[in-house]
Amino acid sequence: MKILTVVGARPNFMKVAPIHKALQKYKKSVTHLICHTGQHYDTNMSEIFFKQLELPVPDYFLGIGSGSHAEQTGRIMIEFEKLLIKENPVLVIVVGDVNSTIACALTAKKLHIKVAHVEAGLRSFDRDMPEEVNRILTDSISDYLFVTEKSGLVNLKNEGIDKGKVFFVGNCMIDSLISILKLTKKTNILKKYELNQNDYIIVTMHRPSNVDSETRLTGLVKLLNSLSVHRKIIFPIHPRTRKNLEGFGLLEKVNENIFLTNPIGYIDFISLLEKSELILTDSGGIQEESTYLGVQCITLRTSTERPSTVDEGTNQLVGGDFKKAGEAVLNVIGGHKKIGTVPAFWDGKAAERICEILASELNY
Ligand code: UD1
Repeated sequence: MKILTVVGARPNFMKVAPIHKALQKYKKSVTHLICHTGQHYDTNMSEIFFKQLELPVPDYFLGIGSGSHAEQTGRIMIEFEKLLIKENPVLVIVVGDVNSTIACALTAKKLHIKVAHVEAGLRSFDRDMPEEVNRILTDSISDYLFVTEKSGLVNLKNEGIDKGKVFFVGNCMIDSLISILKLTKKTNILKKYELNQNDYIIVTMHRPSNVDSETRLTGLVKLLNSLSVHRKIIFPIHPRTRKNLEGFGLLEKVNENIFLTNPIGYIDFISLLEKSELILTDSGGIQEESTYLGVQCITLRTSTERPSTVDEGTNQLVGGDFKKAGEAVLNVIGGHKKIGTVPAFWDGKAAERICEILASELNY
């Protein structure tokens, strides 16, 4: 029996690594194939994660690369269809909400191959986000929907999805985080940037709504410059953000005491996050990782598809307003920390639960 799992972009790798590991228990009856669409292709956005997460070299690499949404999604579908016809798996597993997720789910479904969606049910209720469209469409055609947090159960119920297909299993991204924490102790990343524990801010920003317009990006640079008076800042820059900072002539306007780095590998990034005073971000996954680690997180977005990080965790949603974001950061630095708890089932065993459920559903 063949199961084929898709990865495409950076946040997919940490969700698939624990699933691949958990499937090894069934390797006498299941061959697990991994297909990398190549949506992300830079070494620091892709290869380094495979090494650090101990993922095998993918069985297939589609080499799709960048492009408009239609180009990227279309190219993935054309190449993935050829692969499915060749391998004929019983199940395709897709994770998260990137273009590779919907492209491969849709291709599989049209060939009558069952689809499992890991991280189902999350909703920001903002259909201007490409990820929200990907999430809704993928969930609507999936046969097995694996949910990370309680809000997912409510959202899927409200959308009329048959509850027999929905399984509350916890969070595979946290499975990877828990296993990597053994290694983060050994890095010397703080020394490299002359940072002291609990005394610096990390920034990550890559959403189109924050980085694609000159006005927004100028506002962000001004905010960071003003915060850099209070704390050292480290800002690993996503390729989309770097391209726009360069294009708008903003790179040289960033204060010298802000460390601008290329994207950072998983072990060093989690090490930096774990030891930081706070993170300012617009990422989805980082809201969850900071909640698990108990690190203060200020999210520069108007909505989150991960409400448990706000209701239970250490995340604060400040909207798109840079002034409000600055005030929230200064508030945290001033000692007003949010105390959080870890959501249910974020315990390192989500992938094992998924593989057990699939074993009984598919009879392997
Ligand atoms: C994608 C996902 C987003 C996820 C993010 C994580 C979609 C719609 N978006 O956004 O949900 O949070 O990944 O990073 O799937 N580029 C490189 N090297 C790379 C990859 C990209 O230089 O390895 C550049 C390209 O110029 C590209 C741009 O970055 O045009 C954006 O890449 P793309 O995959 O289109 O979207 P992301 O912004 O990374």
